[in-house]
Amino acid sequence: MRRISDYKDDGDDHSSNNNNNFSPFRYICTIRDLPTAGKSRQFLMSNDKGSKIQIAIFNVDGKYYCISNKCQHQGGPLSKGILDKEKKVVTCPWHGWKYSIIDGKAPHKGGDSVDSYETKVIDDNLYVNPAPTNIGGRVTQPHKEYSDLQNSVREYLNHMEKDNKIPQVSIDAQKNNNTRILGISTTNSNDKVAPRKSTSEEALMYALDYAKNEFGAETKIVKLRDLNFKHCEGYYSKNASACIFPCSISEMDKEDQMIEIYQKVIIWADIVIIATPIS
Ligand code: FES
Repeated sequence: MRRISDYKDDGDDHSSNNNNNFSPFRYICTIRDLPTAGKSRQFLMSNDKGSKIQIAIFNVDGKYYCISNKCQHQGGPLSKGILDKEKKVVTCPWHGWKYSIIDGKAPHKGGDSVDSYETKVIDDNLYVNPAPTNIGGRVTQPHKEYSDLQNSVREYLNHMEKDNKIPQVSIDAQKNNNTRILGISTTNSNDKVAPRKSTSEEALMYALDYAKNEFGAETKIVKLRDLNFKHCEGYYSKNASACIFPCSISEMDKEDQMIEIYQKVIIWADIVIIATPIS
């Protein structure tokens, strides 16, 4: 496997149908501008509807392959992925989804696919047929709880953008509504093997009880050690857009319980108190 070099795209649409009667193929570039063997590069091409689409051209031993540059998951740039020359598969640099550079399909059963395109080199020029040989599609979906949550957040943000302000809660409404306080205990004591007192958790429970008894607040506590999370895979370091809410690892894994945190923190709580051990 080799790392595809990061070609700089000039953002221009290189395609045209001035292609010496090789229609419907579009001229993309001269051979000089093509990636060298084992590498890839992003181009813009006009499709039949006149829209500009991003394509990724891969060079494997002098043969050129073309698929959509946009990963089906969250639009990661496939031209910057990792190419397996033997298998002719590219791995998206953002979260590792894989696509065949021959037909854009996932190399495993039930995976998503991207559009693939036929290429031709004529007189040292590369042409691409904008009619896809395979039309890509998304078949995998995040778990419903995540899509619901994401939709609620989107709706809320749109609403805020439209009104250009954070909704104000009147004093009367505040009086009639109990404040909701979420306590998150991050202590990692092993209750089954060696139960012991966690002072940070005790302090948190004291605070929650106090808020409830003295001020009538609604309270909940979440103990992180009771939930299962997949480890962060550090996508933020690849690109800020690769690591966004909701977590791409959690939303695709039914066993992951990050949704518990999202729902309580984003939807339910007015105040969140996080208790961490200090030793
Ligand atoms: S795997 Fe490509 S954007 Fe997530």
